[in-house]
Amino acid sequence: MLDESFMRANRHTTRNAFWACASRLRRNQCVPINRVTFVTHRVFRQHLHWAHDLGYTLCGRLEIAMRKLITGMKMSVDGMIAGPDGYADWVETWSDEYGLTQQIDACIVGGGMYPGYEQYWTAIQNEPHKPLPMTGKSPAPDEVKWSLFAAKTPHYVLSSTLTEALWPKTTFLRSLNDVAALKQKPGKDIYLMGGARVTAGLIEGGLVDEIRLLLYPLIAGPGKALFATIARRRALELIKAQPLNDGRVSLVYRARKET
Ligand SMILES: NC(=O)c1ccc[n+]([C@@H]2O[C@H](COP(=O)([O-])OP(=O)(O)OC[C@H]3O[C@@H](n4cnc5c(N)ncnc54)[C@H](OP(=O)(O)O)[C@@H]3O)[C@@H](O)[C@H]2O)c1
Repeated sequence: MLDESFMRANRHTTRNAFWACASRLRRNQCVPINRVTFVTHRVFRQHLHWAHDLGYTLCGRLEIAMRKLITGMKMSVDGMIAGPDGYADWVETWSDEYGLTQQIDACIVGGGMYPGYEQYWTAIQNEPHKPLPMTGKSPAPDEVKWSLFAAKTPHYVLSSTLTEALWPKTTFLRSLNDVAALKQKPGKDIYLMGGARVTAGLIEGGLVDEIRLLLYPLIAGPGKALFATIARRRALELIKAQPLNDGRVSLVYRARKET
């Protein structure tokens, strides 16, 4: 993978990567931005003085294609992500089952779920081998893994009221504009962890690029519906559907840009 030290050591290669991207963009072709975004972005900026006009045009288009905001939710067949008590007791573990850990370097969490989220993962970070006070169950090995990843990964809480967090790497976003600004910054993709209102609001705002659902073989009945606050219809493009051997189905959708 390309990174800053690679770029320094391989100036010619990164310059070539820059021109390869430029040429594909000019021909209206897709650029494999994900892995090279950071480098390409920097290379574009470095070369703006000698690729001025082209640079501005391409940077503008690159911004759009930059970091993806990807949500992952564990949902019942009737669209619930939590029961009436605010907890999805049908979910066995809260580890990353969406295959996101390698491709993200930031998490966005809603103000509604953040206090419980922080409490849950702090308990695992502090005492990974003890049963959790909230569930009485011992954390699964993959949950311990996620707790370590969460500790070193910046978290952004979308809230207009919360001001304090225990975790030193947690900061606050106050509006959808702040989320859009975060997406513009160089970096890997961003994991939108929920909850329901924040996810629905960001989908409505056109800021979510991908929706990964783990569909549980369950009609949950009363509870918190993921899409309850969505007001407008939105077409999705199915990228992947995979039945899992415990009856769950993994679904990955691309959120189409509204035209
Ligand atoms: N099954 C799953 O995979 C899964 C995953 C995650 C969460 N959950 C469940 O989801 C539930 C939490 O969801 P929720 O809908 O109650 O809460 P939420 O989406 O976590 O947070 C809602 C809050 O976010 C803030 N907010 C929303 N839009 C905003 C905006 N545009 N600008 C600024 N702040 C904004 C507001 O907080 P302020 O009032 O502070 O502004 C709002 O009250 C929990 O029950 C949790 O268990 C389930």
